[in-house]
Amino acid sequence: MTTYNITMLPGDGIGPEIMREVKRVMAWVEETHGVSFDVTDGLIGGCAYEADGVPLSDETLATAKASDAILMGAVGGPQWDGQVPYDKRPEAGLLRLRKELDLFANLRPAMCFDALADASSLKREIVAGLDILFVRELAGGVYFGEPRGIENLPGGGRVGINTQRYTDAEIIRISRVAFDMARKRDGRVHSAEKANVMEAGVLWREEVTKLHAAEYADVKLEHILADNCAMQLVKAPKQFDVILTDNLFGDLLSDAAAMLTGSLGMLPSASLGDGGPGLYEPVHGSAPDIAGENLANPIAAILSFAMALRYSLNMGDAADQVEAAVSKALDSVRTGDIYADGFTRVGTDGMGDAILTALKH
Ligand code: IPM
Ligand code: MG
Repeated sequence: MTTYNITMLPGDGIGPEIMREVKRVMAWVEETHGVSFDVTDGLIGGCAYEADGVPLSDETLATAKASDAILMGAVGGPQWDGQVPYDKRPEAGLLRLRKELDLFANLRPAMCFDALADASSLKREIVAGLDILFVRELAGGVYFGEPRGIENLPGGGRVGINTQRYTDAEIIRISRVAFDMARKRDGRVHSAEKANVMEAGVLWREEVTKLHAAEYADVKLEHILADNCAMQLVKAPKQFDVILTDNLFGDLLSDAAAMLTGSLGMLPSASLGDGGPGLYEPVHGSAPDIAGENLANPIAAILSFAMALRYSLNMGDAADQVEAAVSKALDSVRTGDIYADGFTRVGTDGMGDAILTALKH
């Protein structure tokens, strides 16, 4: 029997309660697919800061590095906002994990389940059948660029500095992921940057164009300015197949796309490096306002686990089954974020129950 080592980092806010439902789905995979998961729980974010004085300890990082896949919940909460040193804020734990594992490729599928087309803030016909894959660069750009900081100006006053920085090699490796993904989908890539304002965007456009011509001429490539991409996402989102973009634009555009799908509670993500474990986390945050109340939607976390099955654990069939079970559960039950008349309103555990029931039938 194959045993997979899984590092589970529930984190803060709703993290622990959604990851509880993920564990139930994991148990189902163990029972039905002849594998076993050796799960090590760890701390990340504010809870890690409380326990260890840092948002990600060296020990937890080492455990994560040595595992086959890392499943994360969410980090952050108002009790730490501005209350802890900036380099020890909860988000710094997540950024350290991404950076140290060189998880440069963040895959964020935005699919609108037919059952949820009415939960979107956009009209049903604009979003029904939507199927976009964001390929967001995750280990570079303004998130990590130097110089950075807040400095005093000689003549008084202060300046805040961050640096947008991309090497050709960084652009090429993430573009390759986007083109490879497009080949398995509808064969189209939109590459979004701000070449009209930023040199880093000019280089991005040049490198994407070169790689495309050299190796991926069969894929249809279009360049789009990131601001126009935002507009097109709410105007006619179904024109997109794969959207390739940098770390910051990807953060913004994928949140916007999340709302097309009905709820931020629906979007999973995978962060992959070159070999080594992948990190799987919902796109949504820690939702401190509803934490601990059994209200959170566990679907994004469960779909993130499905991505782990597909990309790190070589169980594409199990991933398909989990995704189908989510879709089936949505035919009858809804958490508050996606509630609509005629459905049974359930909590976090009730959604887990419905998905387990669908898996078992
Ligand atoms: C995301 C989040 C993170 C990011 C935060 C929590 C650091 O918004 O994964 O989209 O900005 O990347
Ligand atoms: Mg974000």
